[in-house]
Amino acid sequence: MKIQKYISFIGYSGHAYVCIETAQLLGYTVTGYHDFQELEHNPYNLRFLGPEEQFEQHDGLLFVSIGDNYIREKVYNTISAIKKGMFVSLLHPSVILSKTATIDTNVLISAGAIVNALSYIETGVIINTGAIVEHECTIKAFAHIAPRATLAGNVTVGKRSFIGAGAVVKQGITIGNDVVVGAGAVVIKDVPDNLTVVGNPAKRLIK
Ligand SMILES: CC(C)(COP(=O)(O)OP(=O)(O)OC[C@H]1O[C@@H](n2cnc3c(N)ncnc32)[C@H](O)[C@@H]1OP(=O)(O)O)[C@@H](O)C(=O)NCCC(=O)NCCS
Repeated sequence: MKIQKYISFIGYSGHAYVCIETAQLLGYTVTGYHDFQELEHNPYNLRFLGPEEQFEQHDGLLFVSIGDNYIREKVYNTISAIKKGMFVSLLHPSVILSKTATIDTNVLISAGAIVNALSYIETGVIINTGAIVEHECTIKAFAHIAPRATLAGNVTVGKRSFIGAGAVVKQGITIGNDVVVGAGAVVIKDVPDNLTVVGNPAKRLIK
């Protein structure tokens, strides 16, 4: 017997579209979306379920599908303080996931991504399309690994950090919290908290 799984999304823009399609592929029925207001652009014809703070109206599963790392963290923390255990992670069916990897909740792993042996993906992380997370990496809460980025083995990515599209991070590197790594960068040295780095080899972006 097929069990119906109902899920609602919190946040309904570009990143959410990927989350919604992934959920549908996984057999979820999408009941609607929460956002700050009802949105004119509604490509999946979803029902507006009210502003974010009205999530307690329903008992189905939830996923915070907000692309911005800071807002995703804030909204997740607010809701999970009241609704523990309601969140799921969404792994596209094409993902290659090591059986020894650990995935926390409200994680999206998008099409074609690879998460290898003993890696740990914390709450609210986005591993985007075609990204590679090699063995023994730790991706801390609410970080985002953008499409086609590659993390070699034993890399740590700090909280809310963003690794840009196609960037490469050498094995063993530690990237701090709230770091931005530009698209296409090659990171060969540890990056302290709160920095933006770009280029090959990646250097601090000074404006
Ligand atoms: C690094 C980044 C965040 C900087 O953005 P920004 O603060 O708006 O920077 P600007 O576009 O004003 O560029 C500032 C300087 O950095 C350079 N620069 C910006 N991004 C760069 C990159 N990825 N690699 C190399 N140089 C870069 C610009 O050429 C510019 O140099 P200049 O001052 O000599 O002209 C952004 O360019 C970037 O790479 N974002 C990642 C995009 C991405 O991966 N998206 C995926 C979404 S899922």
